[in-house]
Amino acid sequence: MVNQKIQDAFNEQINAEIYSSYLYLSMAAYFASINLEGFATWMRVQAQEELIHAMKFFDYLKERGGVVNLKAIDGPPTRWDSPLAAFQEAYRHEQKVTGLINNLVDISIQERDHASNAFLQWFVTEQVEEEASADAVVQNLKLAGDHGGGLFMIDRELGTRVFTYPTTAAGA
Ligand code: FEO
Repeated sequence: MVNQKIQDAFNEQINAEIYSSYLYLSMAAYFASINLEGFATWMRVQAQEELIHAMKFFDYLKERGGVVNLKAIDGPPTRWDSPLAAFQEAYRHEQKVTGLINNLVDISIQERDHASNAFLQWFVTEQVEEEASADAVVQNLKLAGDHGGGLFMIDRELGTRVFTYPTTAAGA
């Protein structure tokens, strides 16, 4: 059984993960609107992954006898000045999510909830990858600058991303 503090914090995180999905889906729509279909594909896959993150918290709460309380999801931005601006926001957003996960870990330690702490370790590791993958695209876009050929190459590479259901320990 999770206590009230963990339950509330995990419900907040379900909301944050679904907002992340919403944000990246909005970015997918933006990229599609400027004919960068590879970028759009990448963001669409990212949006799917965020929903999986939300469902991990959802399933975990249920398994521990907690109550799931879904709250309203904020509307994300819909336009960005450039592909670089969008990916810089994605990178900043992932840094923010890392902070939220770290805060949940702190709460699990304060509450001496070892099961929740173990559950959260998957997310601690995942956030390293989440920040790195967004930052890698930021760096590539900076290298490409205004060079249309560079942007085309990045678009083609990002378009190869496919959604795969996470299979790591806590992901099954
Ligand atoms: Fe759910 Fe992108 O972290």
